[in-house]
Amino acid sequence: MTDLDAAFERVFELAERGRYSTSPNPRVGAVVVASGGEIVGEGWHDRAGGPHAEVVALAEAGSRARGATVVLNLEPCAHEGRTPPCAGALVAAGVARVVFSTLDPDPRTAGKGREWLRSAGVATRTGPFSERAERLNEPFLVSVRTGRPFVHLKWAASLDGKIGTATGESRWITGEEARADGMRLREECDAILVGAGTVLADDPALTRRTGLNRSILPHRRIVVDGRLRVGAQGRVFSPEAPGEAWLATAIDESDPRVAPFRERGVRVLSLPAAEAGRVDLPALLAELARLGVRSLLVEGGGETAWGFLAARLADRVTGYHAPLLLGGRAAPSALSGVGYAILTEAPRLAGLELASLGDGFRVTGRLAWPGAA
Ligand SMILES: NC(=O)c1ccc[n+]([C@@H]2O[C@H](COP(=O)([O-])OP(=O)(O)OC[C@H]3O[C@@H](n4cnc5c(N)ncnc54)[C@H](OP(=O)(O)O)[C@@H]3O)[C@@H](O)[C@H]2O)c1
Repeated sequence: MTDLDAAFERVFELAERGRYSTSPNPRVGAVVVASGGEIVGEGWHDRAGGPHAEVVALAEAGSRARGATVVLNLEPCAHEGRTPPCAGALVAAGVARVVFSTLDPDPRTAGKGREWLRSAGVATRTGPFSERAERLNEPFLVSVRTGRPFVHLKWAASLDGKIGTATGESRWITGEEARADGMRLREECDAILVGAGTVLADDPALTRRTGLNRSILPHRRIVVDGRLRVGAQGRVFSPEAPGEAWLATAIDESDPRVAPFRERGVRVLSLPAAEAGRVDLPALLAELARLGVRSLLVEGGGETAWGFLAARLADRVTGYHAPLLLGGRAAPSALSGVGYAILTEAPRLAGLELASLGDGFRVTGRLAWPGAA
């Protein structure tokens, strides 16, 4: 392992500390490596509004930052946000070189951080460990690049892809370890969304339970119900639950049927209908982005997940699979809808990661669309 590899290993360890807390900001780690190879400063970004990783690491390094190399997973910012620009702080500290994995797509930085450093005579290098850095900051990078939230489809299924039995039983298909991991995943996302069918079948609360999330954003529990089949008394709409409950519907906001939801403190998003009472998903995601949601966990059911997939509005899939075979024509599947007619139309998963969880396994991958670069 080279000194640079070791420094990056530490950068990722540090950045990881912000996994559940930095949203809407990215997860960033920073180390300051003195010319002899010694790490003299470390930092990570903890919460939006708090100091950036670079500033924390420079403070620890003090005068030893002069002539040092600073290693980061993301380009230093060039803009004054809640805190002053990091590119300026690096120049002021007199560092000789800055190495980072990916450019920051935020148009206020997007290469301008690097340019600031270069024009001040600081050497820069972009690119090492870029895939790992992309994976770490998927929600931030995808949402900034696309202008919509990062969409993560998640399901718990039998080995044959059924998310319930033909009689509607779905608790619990997977074991304790998988369910605990699913709860951890909830903590990584700004919002969780389910379709009306899931609310009617399971009455889920969609709450976070582990206390891991410390971000400045409230947790949003979202139900998509085009024609308003669900009742306002559902657990997901409980005013006692922490965070906010939102209802996305194609019913007009002046319709008396939405009043009981409003009375429970639910935010009703009346959105354009794409077809036969279906909420237009691009319009929904645009609205969620406007309301500050960077990452959305879609927890089913199969109709809803298919809607996002069919519209190419999904970025990652995580399936928890149990060593169980359910079968059943009438049993709900992880994905339903009309399905793809031909294999070459179907997306594949890239960067597949597999993990054993109890007696089952978790599989996750990035969606790779046919024909996309
Ligand atoms: N094991 C698991 O991980 C898991 C997770 C969740 C659910 N489940 C199971 O899955 C089953 C429910 O799945 P499901 O596929 O029947 O239902 P679903 O996906 O939860 O809900 C489908 C319904 O939601 C509404 N909806 C979805 N997308 C919409 C859009 N773009 N615009 C407007 N409305 C939209 C529609 O209601 P309208 O038809 O009224 O327009 C649609 O019929 C249950 O058996 C549940 O137990 C299992």
